[in-house]
Amino acid sequence: MTTPTTSTTPTTPTTPQKTALVTGANKGIGKETARRLAALGITVLIGARDAERGRAAAEELRADGGDVRFVPLDVTDEISVRAAAERIEAAFGRLDILVNNAAIASGQQKPSETPAAALRQVYETNVFGVVAVTHAMLPLLRRSAAARIVNMSSELGSVSHLADPGSPWSSYSSALLPYCTSKSALNAITVLYANELRAEGILVNAVSPGYCATDLNRHSGPRTPAEGAAVAVDLATAGEDGPTGTLRSEDGPIPW
Ligand SMILES: NC(=O)c1ccc[n+]([C@@H]2O[C@H](COP(=O)([O-])OP(=O)(O)OC[C@H]3O[C@@H](n4cnc5c(N)ncnc54)[C@H](OP(=O)(O)O)[C@@H]3O)[C@@H](O)[C@H]2O)c1
Repeated sequence: MTTPTTSTTPTTPTTPQKTALVTGANKGIGKETARRLAALGITVLIGARDAERGRAAAEELRADGGDVRFVPLDVTDEISVRAAAERIEAAFGRLDILVNNAAIASGQQKPSETPAAALRQVYETNVFGVVAVTHAMLPLLRRSAAARIVNMSSELGSVSHLADPGSPWSSYSSALLPYCTSKSALNAITVLYANELRAEGILVNAVSPGYCATDLNRHSGPRTPAEGAAVAVDLATAGEDGPTGTLRSEDGPIPW
């Protein structure tokens, strides 16, 4: 049996390596958010439901020199969500940043012609998926000294915008009942998590990346995914005096 040795050498305090999980990070704004977080020296976990796409994205981002790894994660599958939490716990013991980015769009139909099933399908990913992932990751986030949760929302979820007949969002939203209301629900979810977790120092915000060219909108947006990622990265790395319980774009707060 070996005798345990006691080191008398003072240890140098080091900043613990931060770990971030970005859901739906194999492409689009999620991938660019992951790229930027990795460039800041954060270990980034690419959550993706397709292993091939997830591994390819992680490999692409590792080529920039960061620590980027693939984690299998289908946000609509509770078993997959639990397994991802267990993997992260086994590898890192905690999580510092969660970016709930994965989402799907809805087909275009007038509200009066949209069946409930269309909302259920979109809500599975955009609403219930966020709650499932957040619920599973919170025990790990609570072990972080400064946990941050960023929910990728949209100005199309702002009820104030939708209610203003003069706003461009009011006309864009007229055929997107499932998507818009999924983001409105996500905004309310953000506020309720923020209210509960404020006392623990966990900051929770919703962000609007702006209209970016991605597969979600058949590349119709004028902004790049990298531009859209910037506000998510700002909130994911906000200091302890950063905001919580807000919806914001890079230009500042957006009305609910
Ligand atoms: N683009 C815009 O103009 C815009 C504007 C406002 C808000 N947003 C928001 O920004 C976020 C990113 O959107 P994007 O434009 O980058 O879209 P995107 O290119 O279509 O990317 C969406 C990502 O979500 C993933 N995903 C979908 N369902 C999933 C599931 N069940 N489990 C895990 N991952 C899943 C997709 O994976 P697969 O490759 O496997 O499908 C993909 O990686 C979304 O929350 C979106 O609502 C986008």
